[in-house]
Amino acid sequence: MSCQVRHGISYTLYMILPIVQTDVPLGYIDLGSGNPSLDLLPIEMLQRASELYFSSGDRRTLQYGAEHGIGYFLTALAEFLSAYLQLQVNSDALLVTNGASAALDMLCTLYTKPGDLIFVEEPTYFLARSIFADHKLQVETISVDQDGLDIDEVEKKLSREMPKFVYTIPTFHNPASVTLSQDRRDRLVNLAQQEDILIIADEVYQFLAYDHEPPEPMAVFSSQVEQVISINSFSKILAPGLRLGWIQTHPEVLSRLVRSGLLGSGGGMNPFTSAIAYYLIQAGDLADNIARLKGIYQHRLAAMDKALGLYLPEAEYTAPHGGYYFWVRFPGMDVSKMRARAWKSKIDFRPGELFSSQMGLQEYMRLSISYYDAPQIEQGIMELAKCLRGGD
Ligand SMILES: Cc1ncc(COP(=O)(O)O)c(C=O)c1O
Repeated sequence: MSCQVRHGISYTLYMILPIVQTDVPLGYIDLGSGNPSLDLLPIEMLQRASELYFSSGDRRTLQYGAEHGIGYFLTALAEFLSAYLQLQVNSDALLVTNGASAALDMLCTLYTKPGDLIFVEEPTYFLARSIFADHKLQVETISVDQDGLDIDEVEKKLSREMPKFVYTIPTFHNPASVTLSQDRRDRLVNLAQQEDILIIADEVYQFLAYDHEPPEPMAVFSSQVEQVISINSFSKILAPGLRLGWIQTHPEVLSRLVRSGLLGSGGGMNPFTSAIAYYLIQAGDLADNIARLKGIYQHRLAAMDKALGLYLPEAEYTAPHGGYYFWVRFPGMDVSKMRARAWKSKIDFRPGELFSSQMGLQEYMRLSISYYDAPQIEQGIMELAKCLRGGD
């Protein structure tokens, strides 16, 4: 994904500055980036899995594949999810995708037409907003608080208008880092059933819990009801460059998805990469990688929390319990206006208004622990503090 699209430091700067082995220009600290640092991408695990794959000589995965994805990969994924989440996941509830983004785009294609209304959290993942804009969808926002999506507000708005779907990031939200409580999950699903509304639950941070486990993923409801579609990804637990993810939903819903023109023409998504991921999962490396990432991110999270307390005591935030993000409020400040000055100091962040469908949230910024190690995070927060205070 291009640097321009990820809304990092401006494209022009990327073009003129030397770029060495990283997608952030040399000398910059982009505290807003939600990319994992390059050292976290498990190239050795992928090499081992690839060697096993190539020595298998199995050419079937170089052929057009079954619409759901290749069978043995789906079985391995279902077994992994069942064991890791201690839930019963059946492979007939899974569909392979090119990541959560492609899943979301596909669902917009299949369930909406231009001008349709959808309910979206405020704030929400800013690049999901771009996907909705591509499909020319009309967005009605629903607030988010410490327990996630405000279900009273969903209920109130449903009495006036019917969306094609509700898009939610229930666990370790991007950018707000909050998690939908179990009670609200139950209420949301009841409402969806009563009103027959689709819930798209984007659960890409489900596996990255640092202190206590979050509620079970929304995906669990998909075995009971047809109104929940969970989208998930290997981007946060293995590597974004694999472009590999999955949909988990009711088999009845899947039977509609597999009849899409996209899968009809291209066959199932990513059979080749899925085959390599299969060997990696079978070797136990996925579970090991998640454990490794959790340890590293937990350490970085503590470093960012400490640095914010030390250098920016006026910042208001709740330290996350999982995922990547600190959603930081600076009361009375228009954070976007600080960005140009931050660039001059070789610092970047993501201003809150990127995550708003109403051009609001100016007092907020998103900071991330995914791209830098603890000393760089401390250095970055120190520089950010100087620049927010107008120093050099
Ligand atoms: C909430 C959310 N959904 C989806 C994505 C993109 O996932 P993928 O790489 O699987 O397309 C991200 C990545 O930042 C994300 O934060």
